[in-house]
Order: sequence, then structure tokens, then C-alpha cells
Amino acid sequence: MPAAGFAVPVAPGGVEFEARITPYVIITCIMAASGGLMFGYDVGISGGVTSMNDFLEKFFPVVYRKKIESQDNSPYCKYDNQGLQLFTSSLYLAGLIATFFASYTTRVWGRKPTMLIAGIFFLMGVVLNAAAQDLAMLIVGRILLGCGVGFANQAVPLFLSEVAPTRIRGGLNILFQLNVTIGILFANLVNYGTEKITPWGWRLSLGLAAIPALLLTVGSIFIVETPNSLIERGLLEEGKVVLKKIRGTDNVDPEFNELLEASRIAASVKHPFRNLLKRRNRPQLIITMCLQFFQQFTGINAIMFYAPVLFQTLGFKNDASLYSSVITGAVNVLSTVVSIYSVDKVGRRVLLLEAGVQMFVSQVIIAILLATGMKNDEEISKGIAIVIVLMVCTFVSAFAWSWGPLGWLIPSETFPLETRSAGQSVTVCVNLLFTFVIAQAFLSMLCHFKYGIFLFFAGWVLIMSTFVLFLLPETKNVPIEEMIEKVWRKHWLWKNYVTDADLIDDEDGDAYGNQENGKANGKAYHNSQL
Ligand code: BGC
Repeated sequence: MPAAGFAVPVAPGGVEFEARITPYVIITCIMAASGGLMFGYDVGISGGVTSMNDFLEKFFPVVYRKKIESQDNSPYCKYDNQGLQLFTSSLYLAGLIATFFASYTTRVWGRKPTMLIAGIFFLMGVVLNAAAQDLAMLIVGRILLGCGVGFANQAVPLFLSEVAPTRIRGGLNILFQLNVTIGILFANLVNYGTEKITPWGWRLSLGLAAIPALLLTVGSIFIVETPNSLIERGLLEEGKVVLKKIRGTDNVDPEFNELLEASRIAASVKHPFRNLLKRRNRPQLIITMCLQFFQQFTGINAIMFYAPVLFQTLGFKNDASLYSSVITGAVNVLSTVVSIYSVDKVGRRVLLLEAGVQMFVSQVIIAILLATGMKNDEEISKGIAIVIVLMVCTFVSAFAWSWGPLGWLIPSETFPLETRSAGQSVTVCVNLLFTFVIAQAFLSMLCHFKYGIFLFFAGWVLIMSTFVLFLLPETKNVPIEEMIEKVWRKHWLWKNYVTDADLIDDEDGDAYGNQENGKANGKAYHNSQL
């Protein structure tokens, strides 16, 4: 599960059990969250590396030649190369495939071994990348990193949501996203420093990913398995011991009983994926898939992956382009913090709609400046360059307090127990799929559309904002067990999918909560898992 937390947000009305925020919990969460750092580092590092001359000369000589002889080409096409895009995108494709295996190991083997597997994949990938002699080594390294992402992002958010006491679970959800943005910023800073080290600075950039990778690997050896996972696998006594340890109290019976009940209900769901396709789950399914698709079509990863390349395309010098990426990376981190504070106050819809306007305006201004300021393939003037960086920052900040975290938070708070786990897998897969598409296509799109690429994304922003306006109901402060009554049944369109006939249990015997059951399930659900 990439790039965001999946902790269960605690709605008012959720049950509180006795739990201290023990140092043990804090350390455990820090360890586990290094999975987020690792993912962010991978997202942020490739753009800077692919803009470095030593790296290009060694692995992509064609691109390198095009770059230094750029006067013969349209500046927009300097980097248009399938191999170069594959270097970035292969990670996400591998992650997508790995997610399917990871959802099995997470359930059957547990969260802890899954994180260890992720750490080992990451370490192998880092070694191959830092030592790469040819393109094959580079790509295989990226694929291994991608496998790490698939495993880590499945297990880590789940782990965090299960270990954290209920009252800080909602915050932890976005905290995972915050870690991703910190990873991206860290990568941008590293690139800024290593660019000056020739001819092997890029090796250092790729190699420093070993820091979060080691943290995750070593961390996963020392942390405990979550009580939920132990109970799910029938290890009841061990589950209770761990629960006492992480909650810092012997009074864990109420929570333990809830976990037992939750695991019984989860076990009775025989066909989670088939369940997901039932009519009554249509609203959540459509919303989740659209949110993830739209999140990528804001164009954010065009910036996150390719900002240094993009800035160079606009005529910035190497140094200036990496420096500008550091600025956008920092804006990304700070604006994510804004989201943590405002999401439960102003609500999801306000954030998404405001961000829609801000992103649309920023992108249109960028397109106009490029169209008028980059005539005859000359370099753009300094003044225009500054305004462009500013507009990229306003775009990134809007994304970071809206679509970034909310693309993950909303699916995690709308799926009912019966489809929770399957729903999350879909969330992750749709995310990785379209992340891959953008990574693979952006530089070619830039070459063909030129400044129009920003109008293309602006068009999508318009479409997604319209979607939010008419089809996305507000879920702020709605307990999960009351979603049907308070959200779906009140919506002009979605109410047609949750009629009494839709809610009746069927021959599968899959557990489904009517309103009464829903309440009981809802409680267990807060305290269980995806
Ligand atoms: C997205 C990533 C993106 C990141 C940027 C996440 O929510 O899923 O694709 O790179 O935000 O901060």
C-alpha cells in the first residue's frame, strides 16, 4: 500500500480501551514508519539522478547526447526516452505485482515477517542500484525495490493501525503520508549534495536508500507481532501477552474480546473480493477507484518524479533545478502537516474543492507562462522561472493537504468490515497502476504536448473537482458503523445502492452488518484491522 497510511480513523463514538502511549509503542511506530520513508525516498530520488550528467552518460548515452546538443531539439523532448522512463516506472509495476503476494504473507505469516521480507528486498535493490554497471543491473535493482514497496506498504500501515491506541490512530494515518513526504524531501536534499560529486555522486544517491532500508530491516527483527495478527492466526495467549505489553496495562480483557470477535467475523467472510463487487459496495468501490485514479491524474508525480528534469527542460542549470526540487519537497512536507490539523475540522470536501481551484489555477498559469515565455526554444527569463517555481509550489501545497492524504484516508474510512481488506488491496493496486502509467508516460507526453501537458492535468483537475462536488459525500466525524444511515442513504445517487433489498444477507453467508450488526461490527472494526 503505497504512499499513505491506512490506520482506521477513530470517529467520535468509537470505543476507547485503556491504553497508554508507551515508549514501546512510540519506538515501534518509528521503526515501522521507516517503510514510509523508504517509499518516499524511492519516489524522490529518481528524478534528480536521471538529471545528472554522469548517470546519463553511463546508462542513457542517447539522452545525454540529446541533452548537451539540445539546441537541435525541442527542449521539451530532451528526456523523452522509454528506457529512462522505465528506470522510474519499473519500481511501481513490480510493487503492483508484489502487493498480491504481500496480502497473502501479511495475513498468513503476519505483519512482522512481511516487513522483514520488505526490508530484505529493499537492501538487495539498494546494493544492485548503487553498484550498477549496466542498465540491466539498474532495472533489476529498481524491481527489487518495487517488491520492497509492495510488501512494506501492505504490512506497515496495517501494523501501525493495529499497534496504536485508538485515539491516535486517525493522526497516524496521515503521519504515514507525512513520512513519505519526508522521504521525498530527504532524497531531494541528497541529490542536491551528490550532484557535485563526479563521477559517482549518483551511486551515493541510490546507495543512501540503505539508511531507511536498514532501519526497516533491523526494526522488523526487534518489534513484536501485532496482537491482531497473532489472534487471527489462533495464537490467542501470545496475542494477549503482546496486548498487555503494548498497552502498558494488565486490563486488556475488553479489547482482547473485541479482537477475538473481529477476527471471528473476518474469518467468516469467505469471498472478500467477490463481496466487493456486490451492489451495496458499489459506492465505496467506485469512490476508491476514482480517488486513486484522480490522485495520480492531478499530475503530482510528474513533479515528484521529474521535477529536476522538468526544471532543466525549462532551462534551469543542474544546480538550480535540484535546488528548486528541494523547495517543492519542503512545501510538500509542510502542507501535509496542514492537512493533519485541518482534516477533521474543515472536512474532506472543503479541502478537496479548495485544492481543486488552487491546482487548476497554478497549472493554467504555468502553461501560459511556458507558452509565452519559451518562444523559439530560448531559455526562459529569470523572472518567469521564479514565478513558475512559485506556481509549482502552490500546486504541490494544494495536493499535499488534499488529494495526497485523502486519496488514502477516505477509502480507509468508508469500507465496511466485510470488504475492508479487499478494498484496501484495490486501493493500493489502482494507485500503483496509475503511478506506473504516469512514470512511464510523462516525459513522452511532455515532448508531444509541450506546455499543453499542464492544461491536460488542469482538465483532469476540473473533472475530479466536479466528481467531488456531486459524488463524494462528506465523511468527517461519521463513525464507521453509521456510514450507511448518515452518508450513503442521504446521498442523491448512492442511496439507490443501499436499499433494504441491497442490504439483505445472501446465500454466501458472508457476514454483513444490517444496522444492528453494523454497530457491533463497527466497534470490533475500529479495533481490528483492515
Ligand atoms: C501519492 C504518491 C505521491 C505522494 C507525494 C501520495 O499520496 O500516492 O504517488 O508521490 O503522495 O507526496
